[in-house]
Amino acid sequence: MSAGKEAAGTAAAELVEDGMTLGLGTGSTVAYFLDALAARGLDVRGTPTSESTAARCRELGIPLVGLDDVTHFDLVVDGADELTPSLQLTKGGGGALLREKVVASMADRFVVIATPDKVVDRLGASFPLPIEVVDFAAPEVRRRVLDLGAGEVMLRGHGGERTDNGNVILDAVFPDGIADVDVLAVALSLQPGVAEHGLFVDMADVALLGTEDGVERLEMPADA
Ligand code: 5RP
Repeated sequence: MSAGKEAAGTAAAELVEDGMTLGLGTGSTVAYFLDALAARGLDVRGTPTSESTAARCRELGIPLVGLDDVTHFDLVVDGADELTPSLQLTKGGGGALLREKVVASMADRFVVIATPDKVVDRLGASFPLPIEVVDFAAPEVRRRVLDLGAGEVMLRGHGGERTDNGNVILDAVFPDGIADVDVLAVALSLQPGVAEHGLFVDMADVALLGTEDGVERLEMPADA
């Protein structure tokens, strides 16, 4: 039970309007959002970013829709592992980063729900960067990520842990944080074998940071 996560999830559910098509993120903060959303009893439909979110939606009676029938989302709500004051994110702690990024890329409005302890000056400083990788390529991608400045790169679950897409995850530790997020994001996107990485650059519109005492908003800077 986390009062902060619950406050953030509940505040995000208040943003939902009847008739909306939603992108539904993954994680413990999103679980509070789903509970609060279901409690509102609105006529909405949502695309889940993981099998776990899909299962929870079925339990709660939130109608699901696939990408065959959706071209954009009125609202996407998702958690984050780290965020900067300018709303750059690290995601993928729960292993759902690939579907999360696809859905976020289709958002009219992308709202991040988190707690203030996740706000950092520099991404990578407090949480290893998740990188989803095709199994075959993992050794080469690992070497490349070390070349790109990681101090350590670990295969999540020693390779026994698979994403919903059947891939593995490398968790890259940057002891001093990531020096240039834009450069690293492009390098990882260009690397063969990388299915997706957990840097969400210039994607989020607003973050709702929940505490026991309420919710603080962080907006994307106007000039971004
Ligand atoms: C899953 C994610 C989650 O949004 C992130 O790990 C935050 O999770 P939580 O709300 O449980 O702290 O990126 O891939």
